[in-house]
Amino acid sequence: MFPVSLARALGLVGATCMLSLATPAMAGDNAPIVIKFSHVVADSTPKGQGALMFQKLVKERLGDKVKVEVYPNSSLYGDGKEMEALLLGDVQMLAPSLAKFDKYNESIQIFDLPFLFDDLKAVDRFQASDEGKGLLNSMEDKGIIGLGYWHNGMKQLSANKALHEPKDARGLKFRVQASNVLEEQFKALRAVPRKMSFAEVYQGLQTGVVNGAENPWSNIYSQKFYEVQDYITESNHGVLDYMLITNAKFWNGLPEDVRGELTDILDEVTTEVNDQARDINDHDRQAIIDAGTSEIIELTPEQREDWREALRPVWKQFEGQIGADLIKAAEAANGAS
Ligand code: LMR
Repeated sequence: MFPVSLARALGLVGATCMLSLATPAMAGDNAPIVIKFSHVVADSTPKGQGALMFQKLVKERLGDKVKVEVYPNSSLYGDGKEMEALLLGDVQMLAPSLAKFDKYNESIQIFDLPFLFDDLKAVDRFQASDEGKGLLNSMEDKGIIGLGYWHNGMKQLSANKALHEPKDARGLKFRVQASNVLEEQFKALRAVPRKMSFAEVYQGLQTGVVNGAENPWSNIYSQKFYEVQDYITESNHGVLDYMLITNAKFWNGLPEDVRGELTDILDEVTTEVNDQARDINDHDRQAIIDAGTSEIIELTPEQREDWREALRPVWKQFEGQIGADLIKAAEAANGAS
């Protein structure tokens, strides 16, 4: 039997038939199970490194049984299309940012609430809690299984204007991910949010379609956003993390031993990614400082409090969709030992 992608290229199958072909247990005797892992960032970022680590360990431990193909930098699917591709069985693994799940589960919007988590350690604790783990399993009826959380890091605000206080953002156009929470976050500042796919951000900033954005250091560095942004405010105002996901039908159809081995590998990779993410972001922050093209603005505790106050109303706006109890559980992860 042809691998799905080849069959599609040859026009051998229609969409319905393809879905059933996506079931790996039905693959031919010696044909490897192909896992296409598509993502939108650079190889050097936490997610990029995680995908490559996964590919390497699968090759070492599963030999010819499973072949992982990694497609970075939106080279196969951009973030507007990748989820649909997963559901169609055109790719088998993704790690979209947690900002990109609201169509499938509104509670996952919790990760976008500004100033909810004090730092990545708090994010870790919430993700490891029953509530956090519950979100991984919440979309199986939609055909999506969450296999783990991967960190990137805390987001920083960048712009072509110095942002010290919330009022400095007024009237500026900010690129946001496809997230209603993030849209409202910028509206709370009386700024103008514009949803835009990740692959378009550099050009958007360069041409002035947008004046600013929010990203962890690793994305600002690897996409060279620092070349087209004069200022970066070290705001740490929210988190950009990922959910590693797979197509439920594909995953449940894997031979049990293969699924078990892949699960072990993914656990290992997840630990490693989450350890490395901080170092990668620290390194990239320093590289941006060394490049000298953007001024890094540090906030005083009072200024940080002003930003928090300005953005806090967003929580109330989304409390009904996310769930007040879930927000409480996430807040409790701050400062817990
Ligand atoms: C973004 O669109 O800014 C991020 O989700 C990109 C990514 O995957 O880190």
